[in-house]
Amino acid sequence: ESRQRGKLLDLHEAATVWFQEQLRSPEGAGAREYLTGRGVTPEAIAKFRIGFAPDSYTALRDRLASGVDAESLRASGLFSWKEQEDGSPGPLYSRFRKRITFPIMNESGRVIAFTARALDSATAGNEKAGPKYLNSPETPLYSKGQVLFNLDKARAAIRQLNFALLVEGQMDCISVYMTGVQNVLATSGTAFTEYQVNLLKRHCTQVAVNFDPDTAGANAAEKSIALLTEEGFTVKVITLEDGLDPDRYVRERGAAAYHTAARTAQALPDYLIERARQLFPSRSPEAKVKALNYLLPHIRRMPNLLARDEFAANAAQK
Ligand code: GTP
Ligand code: MN
Ligand code: MN
Ligand code: MN
Ligand code: MN
Repeated sequence: ESRQRGKLLDLHEAATVWFQEQLRSPEGAGAREYLTGRGVTPEAIAKFRIGFAPDSYTALRDRLASGVDAESLRASGLFSWKEQEDGSPGPLYSRFRKRITFPIMNESGRVIAFTARALDSATAGNEKAGPKYLNSPETPLYSKGQVLFNLDKARAAIRQLNFALLVEGQMDCISVYMTGVQNVLATSGTAFTEYQVNLLKRHCTQVAVNFDPDTAGANAAEKSIALLTEEGFTVKVITLEDGLDPDRYVRERGAAAYHTAARTAQALPDYLIERARQLFPSRSPEAKVKALNYLLPHIRRMPNLLARDEFAANAAQK
């Protein structure tokens, strides 16, 4: 079991190095252009070990296969295959092709999986190009709901500050981290899981969430806030204006503007009360009841009685 883990970790390390080489190679020109266009610096590329999976079905296999058993290659999640007529697995081919590769590290900084972005956002999401982001499947090394992207690099700062900043996407995380915010983590688009909350709890008690200002982001925020509150975290909410996600905000407004926005994060009760007023703007008794019904589950979730009382009184007054 641990021998297999070792083999899979070695495969991921070798794949990471190869993807990094491919990004620097002539085949990587388009990918380099894409990253430059998005403002991803050479420093960020090196720090996060960003790479490129070229448009080849066989090159990665040819590079990795020597001396590695087929079973380990299949278990790695780096390859796909078709089942033969007799039920046996057919030849392996690269899962990630023509994509920017982002290694996903475990807490000790070992690569355990990849998420890989389609190059062309115009075609991203269409059937031919496949999904915008393609992830490693569940493997003996990797389970999506159990990982927080960037925890390896952010852990020391999170402990020191007793505070983590939570964003949705790896690009958000990378951009924010490169502005000097070292305690930033990404959930990678999934709704925050109970497992992730408990993982975070080992390192801090305060969190600021900065999810995308779109419907998906608002839903993810709502759900994550609920989980975090239940587990006793002190929660703040950062809202960026003009529909920008953290990555675009940093790129278009600059690091200082982002830091200012982050400093003006709202305490959770204030955020929720404001949201209740936005959702139910009428001053009618019916609207007030609806607003209160929206807030009550949030109030009930707070484990700290004093905080709960304060929130309830504040909500009633507002
Ligand atoms: P960019 O377009 O590269 O800036 O990505 P983003 O992070 O802004 O993406 P978005 O806000 O659409 O989604 C947030 C996160 O959800 C992404 O960072 C991914 O982790 C995840 N995600 C987005 N699209 C997909 C997808 O097609 N498949 C999977 N598995 N995850 C996705
Ligand atoms: Mn989004
Ligand atoms: Mn729990
Ligand atoms: Mn986004
Ligand atoms: Mn984005």
